[in-house]
Amino acid sequence: MKKLVVYYSFEGDTKLIGDAIAEEIGADVLELKLLKEVKKKEYMKNYLGEKQVLMKTKPILLPFDIKPQDYDLIIIGTPIWSGTFAPAIRTFFTEEKFSDKKIGLYYCFTVKAGLISEHLKKELKNNIILDEIGFKDPKKINPEKGIERAKKWANNLLDNIQ
Ligand SMILES: Cc1cc2nc3c(=O)[nH]c(=O)nc-3n(C[C@H](O)[C@H](O)[C@H](O)COP(=O)(O)O)c2cc1C
Repeated sequence: MKKLVVYYSFEGDTKLIGDAIAEEIGADVLELKLLKEVKKKEYMKNYLGEKQVLMKTKPILLPFDIKPQDYDLIIIGTPIWSGTFAPAIRTFFTEEKFSDKKIGLYYCFTVKAGLISEHLKKELKNNIILDEIGFKDPKKINPEKGIERAKKWANNLLDNIQ
């Protein structure tokens, strides 16, 4: 079974978890990167990020060779921005069309998960959502605990498929 972990990470939390999952289950990694990454983190946090979410902005991604449609299991990770997935993930959903894939979802957040689960499931409606999990600022709070939970979750995901 071909496995892929796709994520976007602005501050490293989603990357921490995504890389740990990929290493644990032997998955390829696609880290989505923006053509123009905003350097001023406070500007993004306090103004631009929310604006992009509200406007459903699709920022341009750096090109990548990986083809998600070649994989059987795709684990998708995103930070929660204004209660939903990050704009880079919106671009990914728009540009990469795939269906009937087994999907695992994870998200990183500071306060609450909000409606992200519904939003992601709507975007992925032609696929099979296996499970999802949330992490509260894993890199900033307790990286070891976050990695441990992520590995356990990913292994359970695989056990339930095979
Ligand atoms: C623009 C922006 C909007 C955010 N909105 C939310 C939110 O609505 N709810 C929440 O709990 N955390 C919110 N956060 C916090 C991030 O989801 C959280 O810090 C996450 O762990 C960051 O993941 P990353 O390090 O991979 O970027 C927001 C962060 C940014 C930058």
